[in-house]
Amino acid sequence: MKKQKSFIYRCSACGHEEPKWLGRCPECGEWNTLIETAVTGRGGPGQGASHGGAGGNRSGGIPQSFPLSSIDPEEGSRINSGIPELDRVLGGGIMKRSAILVGGEPGIGKSTLLLQAAAAAETKGRILYISGEESAGQIRMRADRLGLLEKSAKGSGSLGERIEICCSGRLEDITALLESVKPVLIMVDSAQTLFTAEAGMVPGTVNQMKYCSFELISWVKEHDAALFLVAHVTKEGIISGPKTLEHMVDTVLYFEQNEGDSRFLRAAKNRFGSVDEIGIFTMGEKGLSAVEDTSLLFLVRREGDLPAGVATAAVLEGSRTLLVEIQALTVPAKGAMSRVFSDRIDSARVSRVAAALEKHLGLRLSDQDLYVNVAGGIRINEVGVELALGCAIYSARTGLPLPAGLVIAGELSLTGEIRPVRRLAGRIKTARGLGFDRFIGPEEGAEAVKDIKSAVRLIFVAK
Ligand code: TYD
Ligand code: MG
Repeated sequence: MKKQKSFIYRCSACGHEEPKWLGRCPECGEWNTLIETAVTGRGGPGQGASHGGAGGNRSGGIPQSFPLSSIDPEEGSRINSGIPELDRVLGGGIMKRSAILVGGEPGIGKSTLLLQAAAAAETKGRILYISGEESAGQIRMRADRLGLLEKSAKGSGSLGERIEICCSGRLEDITALLESVKPVLIMVDSAQTLFTAEAGMVPGTVNQMKYCSFELISWVKEHDAALFLVAHVTKEGIISGPKTLEHMVDTVLYFEQNEGDSRFLRAAKNRFGSVDEIGIFTMGEKGLSAVEDTSLLFLVRREGDLPAGVATAAVLEGSRTLLVEIQALTVPAKGAMSRVFSDRIDSARVSRVAAALEKHLGLRLSDQDLYVNVAGGIRINEVGVELALGCAIYSARTGLPLPAGLVIAGELSLTGEIRPVRRLAGRIKTARGLGFDRFIGPEEGAEAVKDIKSAVRLIFVAK
């Protein structure tokens, strides 16, 4: 293969490349960030980045285009991670030539997840686990604790030999290793520990992290490999640190925890799948494991009548239906302005539903502070929660409890109409399966539910 050496100017802030030096990066607008970089590119059409797409024309030669039909579809280029909950969030496995950022607070389980994925990944290729955070001995201890060396992924060779561990954050060491190990899967724990003298004198800066991450991302784009980059995120640091990596990678996963044991893995960005799916795990003695029956997970089982302010909603989280308890509380406003306190459902949505109730039912809420919670601490973004939310607020304000055994789904429009929701039948089936005997939902779409012969009393609300 022809090798050619040339220079490009690469922005150390966003990774944008220019053939000549410019004072200001045209991509991100930063000043004095273009740095001369020598590149050794691979020539020839159809190779590496040329067909792989996102790597760009790093050979420095004449750019080429290809007829769409001549390009190999990248089907079959996903690696099964061996962890179904992770595959679900990724959109069906780890896409080769992709970079995945895994963010979360310290202690949430990022290193555990990646080590488990390294062990379970269904690939015959080698896996390079790079840690600037822990020593090789600590990683081995964790692997033993998780029992990873005893298990072996399907169709793979000896696991202990397939996973290579390297404890360094120095970019030059890592790139040299990549060339000798030629891994198909690379775990970097964490992006914050990466450094190189080329990206300025001060290690640990955002610039260092971006520069080094960009180099590794470029490597996987050109070598049919996939990269996981861990990023520690604290509530304060979310903007300045790893957030700046988000546009460089293909997929961004965030790991979060509720008050209980469950940990949720969500995609904030995914070039190769939907961002609706969530992975639900619990952390136990043997690391992270999937939760078997998630539809039950957020349900509060109560004996007898419900208290006022509580409604059960059937909501969709990706391909799953979850039953969640919405809790509302209204109290006379403490200040001149009434306020909404809601972490789990977007407060703008809560305000909108409250305004619709006030306008169309004459329910006075504008002099009330409004507190809304979802039991079990899961965040709900789905629009189908609105009717249940409205019912919970109504019940809280009037003191009238909803009947036990009732599940609600529906969108509430500003005009006070109940709008149809996706997969109404699936929601009703899940509710019935969990012993609920009443369901309130939109009339539209009800035809699809006619064949559900059950003891469920279906109440469809005409708009
Ligand atoms: P870790 O994966 O190190 O979190 P992160 O890399 O995000 O900082 O581990 C998270 C926590 O999980 C840690 O406090 C120890 C605990 N843990 C278990 O409870 N069980 C286990 O099997 C393992 C490996 C860790
Ligand atoms: Mg860690």
